[in-house]
Amino acid sequence: MRGLKDKVVLITGAAGGIGKATAIRFAEEGAKIVVADFADGAQTVEAVKALGSQAVYVKVDVTSTESCQNMVDAAKQAFGRVDVLINNAGITKDAMMKKMAKEAWDAVIGVNLTGVFNCTSAVLPTLLEQQSGVVLTTSSIVGLYGNMGQTNYAATKWGVIGMTKSWAKEMAKNGLRFNCVAPGFTGTEMVRKIPEQVLQEKIIIKIPAGRLAEPEEIAAAFAFLASDDAKYINGAVLSVDGACTI
Ligand code: CAA
Ligand code: NAI
Repeated sequence: MRGLKDKVVLITGAAGGIGKATAIRFAEEGAKIVVADFADGAQTVEAVKALGSQAVYVKVDVTSTESCQNMVDAAKQAFGRVDVLINNAGITKDAMMKKMAKEAWDAVIGVNLTGVFNCTSAVLPTLLEQQSGVVLTTSSIVGLYGNMGQTNYAATKWGVIGMTKSWAKEMAKNGLRFNCVAPGFTGTEMVRKIPEQVLQEKIIIKIPAGRLAEPEEIAAAFAFLASDDAKYINGAVLSVDGACTI
């Protein structure tokens, strides 16, 4: 991929799953990584360093504006700038609508939607000052097509697409790009929480590729969208879902 060497890439939710795989992929491209997560990111930092790239861990709670500001300050203190923000932290609190508690709605909106607003707000002055930068956000197949038991989650993953498209329209003229990746079901902790019978008999059976995505396959889409190979791609949603959504 062109143009990723020495770029400073800040990834939320990078302690595990898709975020960790994305950190490793960007490190392979020669980028410097800020591993931002509520959970301990030491393993991701080690994996990046083992590839000969630089990495720092910053503890963040994306639901807090103050914490997000501290995250961006720490990234700039470590590496002097931020070139790419990947809004990837996310949670599920699944329940059928008739049983969904308001707390489950609020919690998922807080991390997956307000968290994306908070992180992007915190990094934006830096990107605007640089007149360059890329903000990528993890949407989902569920945002595009809905899913049983995920009213709250679907709202957030559709919401971030609207935010991304609005930002692209507002700030393309400033040299900034905003895109989403919409992964299909991917082999991480999040999917391991799905009841086994539902996963096998209702979900995997409907995936034309016949399997879950690997986190590395999602990471590759982020690397492409952040690279100069994608420099005229702005406001897009890239589905990576094994033909689930055609
Ligand atoms: N797709 C299709 N059918 C589903 C389903 C789904 N996602 N979730 C539940 N069902 C079906 C069940 O198989 C069951 O069918 P039968 O009556 O035929 O047996 C019926 O709906 C009721 O399900 P439960 O008995 O499990 O009902 P519950 O009230 O005890 O639990 C639930 C409901 C919490 C939604 C639970 O079923 C569940 O966790 N389902 C999985 C939800 C899901 O797909 N989450 C995705 C998480 S991964 C993610 O979000 C990442 C991403 O972006 C893709
Ligand atoms: P994961 O559970 O392995 O990773 C999520 C990470 O977000 C965790 O490391 C967690 O500590 C962090 N996090 C949660 N709340 C946080 C908070 N308030 N502040 C900071 N960090 C927080 O799950 P996965 O699958 O890697 O998820 C990554 C992203 O991909 C999420 O946005 C998820 O919604 C999205 N996604 C996942 C799919 C899947 O099938 N696994 C499919 C489509 C999208």
